[in-house]
Amino acid sequence: MTQIKPMKIRKAVIPAAGMGTRFLPATKATPKEMLCLVDKPLIQYGVEEAVAAGCTEIIIVTGRGKTTMEDHFDKSSELEASLAAKNKTALLEVVRSVSKLAKITYTRQAEPLGLGHAVLMAKEIVGDEPFCVLLPDDIVDADVACLKQMVEAFNETGSTILGSEVVEGAAISAYGCLDCTVDAKNPQLLAVKNMVEKPKAEEAPSQNAIIGRYILTPRIFEMIEGIKPGAGGELQLTDAIKALLQHEKVYGFSYKGKRHDAGDKQGFLRATVELGLKHPVLGASFREWLKAFPV
Ligand code: G1P
Repeated sequence: MTQIKPMKIRKAVIPAAGMGTRFLPATKATPKEMLCLVDKPLIQYGVEEAVAAGCTEIIIVTGRGKTTMEDHFDKSSELEASLAAKNKTALLEVVRSVSKLAKITYTRQAEPLGLGHAVLMAKEIVGDEPFCVLLPDDIVDADVACLKQMVEAFNETGSTILGSEVVEGAAISAYGCLDCTVDAKNPQLLAVKNMVEKPKAEEAPSQNAIIGRYILTPRIFEMIEGIKPGAGGELQLTDAIKALLQHEKVYGFSYKGKRHDAGDKQGFLRATVELGLKHPVLGASFREWLKAFPV
């Protein structure tokens, strides 16, 4: 077992090349990552969380038909000039801040060969350092950004850390599932013995699901290159992390916060209501309106 000396986490990979089939027809011509949750697109929540965790470089793995994401994070000179001319300074600041969030690099995944393959597309840009992976469908509402909590755990352990939560019953078969034990010193850490992607409910080793937040050591790339297609015929990140277990320790991490699956219509609706109620400007009046809403 080699223990990697903790290095500062600077880079986050956000896989965003998927077709968004769970959200059709909304995602026929609009990238799923650009769906607006309350007042900003899903991908912006992801980038902001990575920045809150200390990342300064975001690598978005994109694909065909996804260029509006690049426009969203780019400087928009015409819009800025128009807002400035009309003295709309607050809006101007909002628009400018989006393009200044972080250095964002784009790389393409030409074919939908799986999450492991998507992460592999970032190999050259990430290089030989530990990094985060954040799946933008998973919106985590937390007092301390979920990835920041995980970076702190990485700084303690120097090991791969997988965001994890307990899910009910058969829901486990939609996730990567951990066979793990709670760490004696830190009850938020789960020492992982094994893992399986999308198990049948009756074969799942536990109810501990992997959520879309990972801190990975760079050896993961070699592991991805060594695996064969797994669940759904895709190169699964879970299978590569399982292979990593032969070389390094891997921990699950029971984060503090609430996750919404915003890649799913029902999850997106719930996230809209919950985050709408918490919104600093819209929340109070939305709450009043909801109270009077006939259900
Ligand atoms: C992916 C991962 C899975 C993980 C899930 C979290 O699955 O493969 O291990 O539990 O994200 O959202 P997907 O939801 O892309 O099928």
